[in-house]
Amino acid sequence: MRIGLLGAGLIGGEHCAGLRDLLDRRLVDGCLAGVHDPAPGRAEEFRARFGFERVFPTAEALVAAPGVEVVFVTSWTAAHAPAIELAARAGKPVFCEKPLGRSLGEARAMRDTARAARLPHQLGLILRTSPAFQQVRALCREPALGRLMAIHLRDDQFFPIQGRYRSEWRKDQVLAGGGTLLEHSIHDVDLVRWLLGDFREVRARLGNHAGHPGIEDLAMVQVELAGGGQASFLSLWHQITSRPSTRRLEIFFERGRLEVENEVLGPVSLELGDAPRRVIEQEEVARHYLEANPALLPLGLQVASPQEVEDFLFLRALSAGRPPAPDFDEGVAAHEIVEAAYLSAREDRPVALPLAQKL
Ligand SMILES: NC(=O)c1ccc[n+]([C@@H]2O[C@H](COP(=O)([O-])OP(=O)(O)OC[C@H]3O[C@@H](n4cnc5c(N)ncnc54)[C@H](O)[C@@H]3O)[C@@H](O)[C@H]2O)c1
Repeated sequence: MRIGLLGAGLIGGEHCAGLRDLLDRRLVDGCLAGVHDPAPGRAEEFRARFGFERVFPTAEALVAAPGVEVVFVTSWTAAHAPAIELAARAGKPVFCEKPLGRSLGEARAMRDTARAARLPHQLGLILRTSPAFQQVRALCREPALGRLMAIHLRDDQFFPIQGRYRSEWRKDQVLAGGGTLLEHSIHDVDLVRWLLGDFREVRARLGNHAGHPGIEDLAMVQVELAGGGQASFLSLWHQITSRPSTRRLEIFFERGRLEVENEVLGPVSLELGDAPRRVIEQEEVARHYLEANPALLPLGLQVASPQEVEDFLFLRALSAGRPPAPDFDEGVAAHEIVEAAYLSAREDRPVALPLAQKL
């Protein structure tokens, strides 16, 4: 598989480290064929760091090149839609980072473009590959827990225009589409939907302390799940630069409670009825993960990043001729929840899901 990359930034680097490892260990056949980034020096830096064969001067040239067979879109969010257009025109499979687009409308149009071109595609909803959350998903299906009552998910990080984030586009609504809710917590709403099903109603309040127009740095979102149960999401971008990006998930059922603090390997803790609290430690979480995903056995868990697992599954699906997952439909479903939350905050009212096709 000859891989082209659009966007030589932070997450592009995570993908490339993973892809380099997969290629070096011969777990994937192919090469890093080409890279493009309009920021001076970035693509050249990636060529030196990861061994790309070529630097392309434009996205159009990269996607059209006969030597590029599959395209990874890891540019800032505003450049996702034009990249999907190019890939669709060239008929080349595409992996796209989340969020799919800057708005629900843009995301729907991208999904339709990929569908019309019958383009194999995958979206970077990375929490779905987390061993800890896969463990939680399996546990949530345990009948002894009883009915779902409530979920709370806190997601916080420092405003990501500093530190390891070497770029400032996240404070610009034209490039990012929105703030912490769209840019970060689209992962969270997707996670809860993937764990526990569709949402029926959304209520939200937003805050903007940093003062970048259209870029909320606080979102409190409450939802009712279609199958029963309530969820609340707290999403924030603060200025505590000493604090790493963290998530904490708590789920209460009638007779049980699950909790996860480390979003990759856990531990996952479970309280069930009268039994003493059980902590599923990281080694056990990892073992269960490999048992549940035998396709990952050759990879093991000694990988550079969760992106490596994600990319491995994407490329394997392509070579097996299977549709990769999660696809853009899943992305649109997550966008719909985010858009409903923005609408609720703007109009100060609950918003029912699904939303109308025309918004
Ligand atoms: N899945 C995850 O956990 C995760 C984590 C971080 C970022 N992301 C997403 O990945 C995307 C990139 O984020 P980042 O943190 O790597 O940002 P970044 O600023 O580090 O990198 C983005 C790069 O895209 C480049 N770019 C802009 N327009 C381009 C174009 N037309 N063609 C090619 N490159 C172009 C920029 O010059 C920049 O170098 C965003 O959509 C972000 O939401 C996902």
